[in-house]
Amino acid sequence: MSMILVLPVYFVLVSSVAPPLFNASELDQTELLDQIETSAVNLLKSWSTHTSFSDPAITTEGKGVPMTKIPVPESFKDSTMCLDGSPFFFYIRPGDPTRVALFLQGGGLCIERFDCEHRATTRQGSSNDWEEELYDESNILSQDPRSPLSNYTHVFMRYCSGDTWTGTNTLESGPGRYGLYFSGHNQVAAALSHLQTTLDFGSTPGSHFFLSGASAGGIGTNNNCDFVASTLGPNVSVKCSPQAGLFFPQDTTALWQSRLGVEGVTTNQIASVYLSRMFSSHHDASCVAHAIRSLDPASFCWEGSYLTPHISTPILVAQNFWDQLQIDNILCFQDNLKQASCPEDFLVDFKTHTIEQLTELSVKQQLGFFAPSCYMHTGNLCLFNTEDDDENVVVAGRTYLDAVKAFVEDGELTVSVDDCGGEGGDEDYVPCNEVCEMHCG
Ligand SMILES: *[C@@H]1O[C@H](CO)[C@@H](O)[C@H](O)[C@H]1NC(C)=O
Ligand SMILES: *[C@@H]1O[C@H](CO)[C@@H](O)[C@H](O)[C@H]1NC(C)=O
Repeated sequence: MSMILVLPVYFVLVSSVAPPLFNASELDQTELLDQIETSAVNLLKSWSTHTSFSDPAITTEGKGVPMTKIPVPESFKDSTMCLDGSPFFFYIRPGDPTRVALFLQGGGLCIERFDCEHRATTRQGSSNDWEEELYDESNILSQDPRSPLSNYTHVFMRYCSGDTWTGTNTLESGPGRYGLYFSGHNQVAAALSHLQTTLDFGSTPGSHFFLSGASAGGIGTNNNCDFVASTLGPNVSVKCSPQAGLFFPQDTTALWQSRLGVEGVTTNQIASVYLSRMFSSHHDASCVAHAIRSLDPASFCWEGSYLTPHISTPILVAQNFWDQLQIDNILCFQDNLKQASCPEDFLVDFKTHTIEQLTELSVKQQLGFFAPSCYMHTGNLCLFNTEDDDENVVVAGRTYLDAVKAFVEDGELTVSVDDCGGEGGDEDYVPCNEVCEMHCG
């Protein structure tokens, strides 16, 4: 609802800005990066102006044992601050000390001054009002005995960095843009160190670690997956499962990019360069090596379609055919403002790029995926439907819970692609899963 109130203001902003026209193919890399920097906010500001980032399905009341707030180790205090400089905390529920499940919370990201500064005054940018105890009733930190992770040690990483869990600012390096701290990647490093110190985690062979996150936390899962595996070392079997973290499908260009005069670069490339620079992002080491060989900016490694082929840890990707947030709030944003719906051929391309790339990768690397034919962001990508236990999203005979169970218990990576569209499925835009709404957050 509030979205509608924001739109006219936003439209004026965009219309009044005269962005520089450029064509990527005519520029060398330094010029390209500078041009991207000056154009990116105009393209990405639909992210910063949209107000529908809900707090994911984490609750302050629930059944069983809560996850409790715990400070970071002393040696990480100066490298893990929230945006506003307040201290970071983990939420931990003790369980099997040789098995850990860690979840990176989502909730949008910081784009430009006004939204970043505002974020720093909320619980998504400051720990000042964080509760002592939290519960997860629906996702990978659930204590539901049907979950293969129910008796793991549970670590909930609350999102206060606005940086998709990639930032590396420290007190010593000083804050990043707008005087804010982007330290999300350092917070992940701190959690691993805490587990190693308090549980001796990884000191014996046969230990297990499951990394997941939704939306911005899904991006964080992709960006930290191999880092977690290399940090924990050979005694720990690491598995990753990003939920709705593939921003954006390969080769996607926002429909209105040409109207901004931004030609010859994909939305991915623009987002990667701009955001990685702002967040001082940590990048996957093998992806950076690939970027250097390909004469691409290393910052391209921020986004899913460029990064995922370089993730060597086993990974189960949960991604809808049509990521609603990407389509509604970014790629087709200006068309939505004009009350025009996103053109059907664009939607068909979006789905095709998403599924084709994941299918290709599933053949080449240890990657499985779960892809419902839904027009949804994270709303249906979790283990349990807390509103109606019988109505889980089923894709090719499996739920995401089934896929996670096979992955966790047997190391089996399955490819589950919705086939409800029938014969015309490839050419049509038909979200046809019977249960797309699951209240996952
Ligand atoms: C956790 O549950 C699994 C079965 O799901 C069981 O094999 C294991 O022993 C349990 N671990 C602990 C510490 O209770
Ligand atoms: C892995 O386990 C072995 C046997 O317990 C231990 O000696 C070794 O130090 C562990 N490795 C790491 C990196 O902790």
